[in-house]
Amino acid sequence: MIVLVALIILIVLLVGVHRKRNEYYWKKRGVVFWRKSKTLGVFWHYVSGQKSMFQIFDEMYREYSDASEVAFGTFLTPSIFVKNLVNIHHVTIIDFQSFSHRGLAFGKNDKLANNVALLHGPKWKIIRQAMSPLFTPAKIKKMHYIVDKCAQDFIQLLKRNPNKLNGDAYMTMKTYCCAALTGAVFGIGTESPFESPFIKITSQALAPTLWSNIKFMISGVSPQLFNFLGLSLFSVQEKLFTKTIKQVIEDRKLSDEKKHDFVDLCVNLQNGGVLLDSDTGFQLQPTHEIMAAQAFIFFMAGLEPCAAGLFGALFELGRNPEMQKRLQRDIDAAFEKYDGEMTYDAIMEMKYLDKVIKETLRMYPPVGFLTRECVRDTKLPVGNIKIDAGTKVYLPIYSQHNDSKYFPDPEVFDPERFSNEKELADVFIPFGQGSRICLGLRYAYIQIKTGIVHILRHFDIEAYMRNGVVSYKKEHMFVRLKDVDLALVPRKTIF
Ligand code: HEM
Ligand SMILES: *[C@@H]1O[C@H](CO)[C@@H](O)[C@H](O)[C@H]1NC(C)=O
Repeated sequence: MIVLVALIILIVLLVGVHRKRNEYYWKKRGVVFWRKSKTLGVFWHYVSGQKSMFQIFDEMYREYSDASEVAFGTFLTPSIFVKNLVNIHHVTIIDFQSFSHRGLAFGKNDKLANNVALLHGPKWKIIRQAMSPLFTPAKIKKMHYIVDKCAQDFIQLLKRNPNKLNGDAYMTMKTYCCAALTGAVFGIGTESPFESPFIKITSQALAPTLWSNIKFMISGVSPQLFNFLGLSLFSVQEKLFTKTIKQVIEDRKLSDEKKHDFVDLCVNLQNGGVLLDSDTGFQLQPTHEIMAAQAFIFFMAGLEPCAAGLFGALFELGRNPEMQKRLQRDIDAAFEKYDGEMTYDAIMEMKYLDKVIKETLRMYPPVGFLTRECVRDTKLPVGNIKIDAGTKVYLPIYSQHNDSKYFPDPEVFDPERFSNEKELADVFIPFGQGSRICLGLRYAYIQIKTGIVHILRHFDIEAYMRNGVVSYKKEHMFVRLKDVDLALVPRKTIF
């Protein structure tokens, strides 16, 4: 009993000290301090409330409309939400060397965490270089046949199962995205890509359960504690990914077939021997485990955002029938021009489609904010703010896209905003920016566009809203629509 009381007193004292300490720390640097939850900051609001993390940041963004930065308490780790465009540029691009870390903690024994999204330093650099050839425009063009085949199979699947046409459309769209991603990563096999085990695995790894919310909080407020407690993020998924990738790489080495997928790249890398970064002299063996960790992050980082992009676009097209008709006319014309095939070139030629997808990613950016960790003491130029190594930096995506300063009437879906795309380059950042920009950007566009084209060729979309307004699921980093759904109505013309 006495121990318990002592413990509670100790915690209360610690919390009290850290409130003051955090506030003082930032006051000295001339940065306003978030008035809510001064000890655990946004993480406390997230864990104890119903809001998605990006909404909490968005409230902060709008409450402190004149501030160029807002700091908040995260126990031992200083944290800052940067709103000023010049400083955001500085963090992501200009002073990348000081902010090269994504700042998400993972366990020492998390083998799947050895991936391009979570690593930093020379190991990140060498893996990013090794993976980049998979995502060049030329490579995406070669890969397009895989995505297109999956989209065609998906339409057949929908036609055979009319029960999938009405309701739970997000999950249905996710099946297509997962099939296409499985094809692009592991190549198309003989088995149905729609029975991919990865859909369940990634959903499990990402599900915002109470426990994963708490782990997310610990990782945010104290990476040291995360490691001290021996937490790990992905131990459940490790076996399946490592086993699968080992098998397909070994099989591919025995065949001469070129499929232009991720496995081809793995075979090339492994045949080339040790990876060497000529700048730093850093070396890395491209083992099966390393390859499995990259395959894993492609699913983790790629699946939900692509499904959200596809679903969001269909939702807005359902709400805006005249835009839907216009896009269908473009799509029908392209199918005619290319003799019933939807080639990569045909998709790249469709300007209106491009604007619709971009406006969707503007209005519903699937990833709501960016994170970085400072790795060496530095300064932010506007306000001359001193930033110590170890500081966590958060940058808005959603709030920037929802700011009328950059996008007048942000709640209006208007693809024509993207008629002058160059002007928006600084403020439209659904894939992040700088050296850590989304690796799968080009692939994501082609996968979403191919899906839309085949779906609208065969179906009209109707959108439903439960409460007459859009709302959002409680998520760590994602922006996921809630209480909205779609019906796919077969078009009258039969192709
Ligand atoms: C619409 C779909 C997608 C969106 C909106 C999206 C968004 C993002 C964002 C915002 C980041 C952080 C960038 C930064 O910190 O500056 C990111 C990183 C990343 N994304 Fe995507 N992504 C999408 C699809 C994909 C796909 C399909 C893949 C893989 C095939 C992928 C792989 C990655 C990887 C590996 C990183 C980490 C890059 C690094 O740290 O070097 N993403 N993505
Ligand atoms: C977007 O901004 C508007 C004000 O322009 C605000 O009312 C709305 O709540 C914001 N959206 C979210 C999800 O925070």
